[in-house]
Amino acid sequence: MKADNKRIVMVTAYDWTMARLVDRAGVDMVLVGDSLGMVVQGHDDTLPVTMDQMVYHTRCVSRGLTHAHLVGDMPFLSWQPSISMALETAGRLLSEGRAQSVKLEGGERAAETIHKLVDNGIPVVGHVGLTPQSVHAMGGFRVQGRTDEGAEQVVRDAVAVQDAGAFCVVLEGVPADVAAEVTNRLDVPTIGIGAGPHCDGQVLVCNDLLGLDLSFKPKFVKRYAQLETTAVEALEAYAREVRDGSFPGPEHAFSRRGAPRKVAKLY
Ligand code: KIV
Repeated sequence: MKADNKRIVMVTAYDWTMARLVDRAGVDMVLVGDSLGMVVQGHDDTLPVTMDQMVYHTRCVSRGLTHAHLVGDMPFLSWQPSISMALETAGRLLSEGRAQSVKLEGGERAAETIHKLVDNGIPVVGHVGLTPQSVHAMGGFRVQGRTDEGAEQVVRDAVAVQDAGAFCVVLEGVPADVAAEVTNRLDVPTIGIGAGPHCDGQVLVCNDLLGLDLSFKPKFVKRYAQLETTAVEALEAYAREVRDGSFPGPEHAFSRRGAPRKVAKLY
């Protein structure tokens, strides 16, 4: 797609219901991101997400997809301790979670692991720039690559990840010109989030683009719907109708077959 100048559309999903919808919308790639720690579990960051949870959600999403490529995220410290741990956890995302590739955060420091995974038949998506699992090391969710040195590090990280064998690279939270530079340098596609318009593709968290939490609106998110409002209005209508007795109506009730007879008195 990069060679043909076709933009790649990636979106996150965390369960079968959303997977069906994003697949129907014709997106190219679906990411079961560890962002589920924040948007599904309600944590402040992604660090508490476990490998078992990732496998569970990836498996749920896989059942809802018919054509989109499925990427499973490697959660915090699920691969760093050793190459054999990385192979085991990535392998679980493919064999149990039914993902077709895995994503892991990190540039130069992740290169050796990426190389080993790819060598063992596991396709890898890289992730550089703002890497949320390093939130404490970065001093918060901060845009990376704003200084010359920072920008050079982002480029070095992206090149290292590509050279290690990643088939695409997520660029998160970097200035648009840095993302453009990386995109020009790499042969593999870049997928941006908070990285401006020059990437080969874009990814957003589905809950953000659908407006499921209207209290959360970072600069890089565009809301394509306001589903929080729609959902709360629907739930309020339901509550009202239950309370005033107008739901369920006769059209929602079952009747008995044939003419109603008196129910036998058992006691
Ligand atoms: O966890 C996630 O959803 C991600 C994307 C935002 C790229 O890493």
